[in-house]
Amino acid sequence: MRLLFVTSEAYPLAKTGGLADVSRALPIALKRRGIDARLLLPGYPGALEHIENPRILAELAPMLGISGATLVSGRLPATNVPVFLIDAPSLFRRDGGIYQSGNGQDWPDNALRFAFLSHVGAKLAMGRLGLTWRPDIVHANDWHAGLLPLLLSLEPAPRPKTIFTAHNMAFQGNFPPGILPTAGVPEDCFRCGQIELYGQASFLKAGLCYSDRVTTVSPTYAREILTPEFGFGLDGLLRERGDDFVGILNGIDDASWDPAADIHLPRSFRLGDISGKRVCKAALQRELGLPVSPKAPLIGFVSRIAHQKMADAILAVLPWLAERGAQFVLLGEGDRELEAEFAQAQERHPGCVAVRIGYDEALAHRLQAGSDILLAPARFEPCGLTQLYALRYGTLPIVRRTGGLADTVVDANARTIADRTATGFVFDDASLEALTAALERALALYTKPLTWRCLQLQAMVQDFSWDISADRYISLYRDVAGIAPADGTVDPIATDVQRHVAI
Ligand code: ADP
Ligand code: GLC
Repeated sequence: MRLLFVTSEAYPLAKTGGLADVSRALPIALKRRGIDARLLLPGYPGALEHIENPRILAELAPMLGISGATLVSGRLPATNVPVFLIDAPSLFRRDGGIYQSGNGQDWPDNALRFAFLSHVGAKLAMGRLGLTWRPDIVHANDWHAGLLPLLLSLEPAPRPKTIFTAHNMAFQGNFPPGILPTAGVPEDCFRCGQIELYGQASFLKAGLCYSDRVTTVSPTYAREILTPEFGFGLDGLLRERGDDFVGILNGIDDASWDPAADIHLPRSFRLGDISGKRVCKAALQRELGLPVSPKAPLIGFVSRIAHQKMADAILAVLPWLAERGAQFVLLGEGDRELEAEFAQAQERHPGCVAVRIGYDEALAHRLQAGSDILLAPARFEPCGLTQLYALRYGTLPIVRRTGGLADTVVDANARTIADRTATGFVFDDASLEALTAALERALALYTKPLTWRCLQLQAMVQDFSWDISADRYISLYRDVAGIAPADGTVDPIATDVQRHVAI
């Protein structure tokens, strides 16, 4: 089975959050199972720099007013996953972020940038780029690839089947309808309401409407977004999709996130011997300028600094934590005002609060390994990956009972501690009081080393690898494409050569 996985980010080529981790780990897991999975994403400068074995595969004829673009092929670093990058310099080769310029504003031409991604995806999927390889299935992710199922639906059969995964209903890619000609979308699609959302043209809605199947990234979030509270205006559409819509829990890349083999850690540790975690904690305290105190509970937060992640509540709880002698470390970026307030909190609570604003993959690993507790509360959370990394690193997560957080953490109470199923702390209300109460419970148990150790071991034995979920995606692909289970043979890697093609 040949699969084209279309995404706006994939670690380590481009990353702002969990989508990048999934876009790496799921294709790796699919390849291991004999699926010929290939990625398509924009050729940002970092992606062009880091892709392995790059070569120009095709020159793309002018489209949507963009000329001089090429399709580059290569490998996702340190994997056998083939990648196609769209090198369209005027759209993607810029200083700044993937979605935003350096000053935190969305790029004004985002509709065009990601429409271009979908158009190239459609041409590739329909075999119009002169390559010998054509997918049976196109798996499009998030609003950035939302137009792709729409574009393919306009193509004559035979055409590949489409799966669309919504990683977060809050990010919708809504633009004024006047953008549609620029995005190469027939205006009829807007008139018939299929992509219209409160008067805007929604790329997310296009993905949800036009794909053969829709998925999201945890079973609980799949139920939640059928309601107005979590559906962001699209719950009715999802309800209409009925059985075509499912939640499949994300897994983790258990090779990159393995405390026994993590290249970013000063000392490794494993289930049978977690003594190295003490070394990681001391090193993290030293690195962030906190007193090296083995006894002080060290609470980590590695996240986008956003309302979704309850960053405002975390900021408000810091004086309470400092009074109790706990240490808090933050690695994140996002809301500029909250960033500034966290920086002020560091000044106000020296020795207790350490704040690193920015993006640092290696520090994220060291923070997971060195912390005792990971804060991962959220007002809503489609899946959440940081709590899964925390579990693997024996760092007990504090989460709110929502989305994938509810599906992956078992609250520590008298019963779950006794029957050894507890793995963290779960609270219900999205309030400062409820967050504080959960922290209080965690800090109380932290003073009981034997109980704490049992919880850590229980957390570390959890299996959140992609094994089960990759098989669920494969069943879905087979089902929608009507392809019988494979006989175990792996699809050959196509040997496309550089060509000049018109699209
Ligand atoms: P989301 O995708 O909603 O931001 P997830 O929990 O699914 O949340 O994924 C977040 C990913 O981004 C994790 O891999 C986490 O380690 C990483 N991450 C978040 N903020 C930073 C940061 N400032 N520096 C490094 N990694 C970060
Ligand atoms: C989104 C969600 C997050 C999820 C990630 C990967 O960024 O906010 O919950 O883990 O996508 O699916």
